[in-house]
Amino acid sequence: MNKTQTLYKRAKEIIPGGTQLLSKRPEMFAPNLWPAYYSKAKGCKVWDLDGNEYKDMSYMGIGSCIVGYSDSKINEAVIDAVNRGNMSTLNAPEEVELAELLCQLHPWAGGVRYARSGGESMAVAVRIARAYTQKDIILFCGYHGWHDWYLAANLSDDKALDGHLLPGLSPRGVPRGLSGTAYPFAYNDTEGFLDLVNRYGNKIAAVVMEPIRSEYPSKEFIETISTKCKEYNFLLVVDEITAGWRLNIGGAHMVLGIKPDIAVFGKAISNGFPMGAIIGKKEIMSVAQDTFISSTYWTDRLGFAASIATIEAIKEYNIIEYLNNIGKKVQNGWLELAKKHNLNIDVGGLYPLSHFTLNEPQSEILMTIFIKEMLKRGFLASSGFYASYAQKEEDINEYLNSIDKVFNILKDIITSNSDISSYLDTPIKHNGFKRLTK
Ligand SMILES: Cc1ncc(COP(=O)(O)O)c(C=O)c1O
Repeated sequence: MNKTQTLYKRAKEIIPGGTQLLSKRPEMFAPNLWPAYYSKAKGCKVWDLDGNEYKDMSYMGIGSCIVGYSDSKINEAVIDAVNRGNMSTLNAPEEVELAELLCQLHPWAGGVRYARSGGESMAVAVRIARAYTQKDIILFCGYHGWHDWYLAANLSDDKALDGHLLPGLSPRGVPRGLSGTAYPFAYNDTEGFLDLVNRYGNKIAAVVMEPIRSEYPSKEFIETISTKCKEYNFLLVVDEITAGWRLNIGGAHMVLGIKPDIAVFGKAISNGFPMGAIIGKKEIMSVAQDTFISSTYWTDRLGFAASIATIEAIKEYNIIEYLNNIGKKVQNGWLELAKKHNLNIDVGGLYPLSHFTLNEPQSEILMTIFIKEMLKRGFLASSGFYASYAQKEEDINEYLNSIDKVFNILKDIITSNSDISSYLDTPIKHNGFKRLTK
């Protein structure tokens, strides 16, 4: 067993669940094969502990590194902040600079708070919404993190969250008393949303949603939400943690005609350095001083420095256009190659957040084989492609050339009429949340 796999084996003895983030579990890709650890990452390249080099054509730091790994300019800003002291008893002035920058980019907003991760920032947003409206119930669609307010939806129905990105999330440990405080509806399901509004009307504090994930919102969906917010006095909170900084500079809501009361940023806002920002209308955000929301490391200088440098880089390198161009190239490449090899696939997602699904029998086994074969060819690759400025034209071409070969292998397996699982010498990849067995 190589160093990387040996270390992961040790990790599973002492770190319950193996990793801190479900989406970084090797079992979510190719168990026993996916290199769990990296020694170095630069641009779109990643080196594992055994000296193997990969190009990351998968999730680029789970959606955080749109400029690229260890970007020199952003590093410079962060190292400068380290050298000037990232922490003191006083506050870092960059937090005001970033707040003003975010409000310039989102003129509807007049107040900003910070946290350091996405889920935590969403919990802050939900607290502010509940404090402002003095109501409890949250209607939501999509994934918004691990906190109690969100998992509470699975207390009364343990399948409630299954359609929202990650199936199988267990609410064990979430107080039963939170049952009936959060209800999900499907994105673009206007009827489902109205049904919940009719049931919970004046008790609703907020509707929480991603502005967009894989499909564009219908006009009817957006307008209905907006109308009901006004009619029943609840807030619209948009979660821009994954959608933000990919369609435009700032929140995707701005180009989709969505008018939120609060918007939340994470991930790409700081290109891999821990950061979360909650922006909102002035009178709503001012409630953040009437309820206790406060944490030591939310004052750390690095997140502010990284965010300011990242936003500058997005503007300077014209990153939004770049991400959309390469995402389009990848989506078209997948479709052409699937056609060439007679594979049945569906392609979806915004160009910078592209994904495909194999519509073939035993697709999870086939996808595990796909990942394994792409690893052999030097790519971290899966069913998703999160675009980054560090993935250059030649990287995309090499990636698509390898997919050409791997799709051919998959087609040969499918047409061989033998047991597909006999082609896999490792366990099948996981799909969603599961307890790890050794
Ligand atoms: C839309 C959305 N909200 C919230 C989160 C949670 O963010 P974090 O993992 O930084 O806590 C994610 C993470 O994938 C996300 O995609």
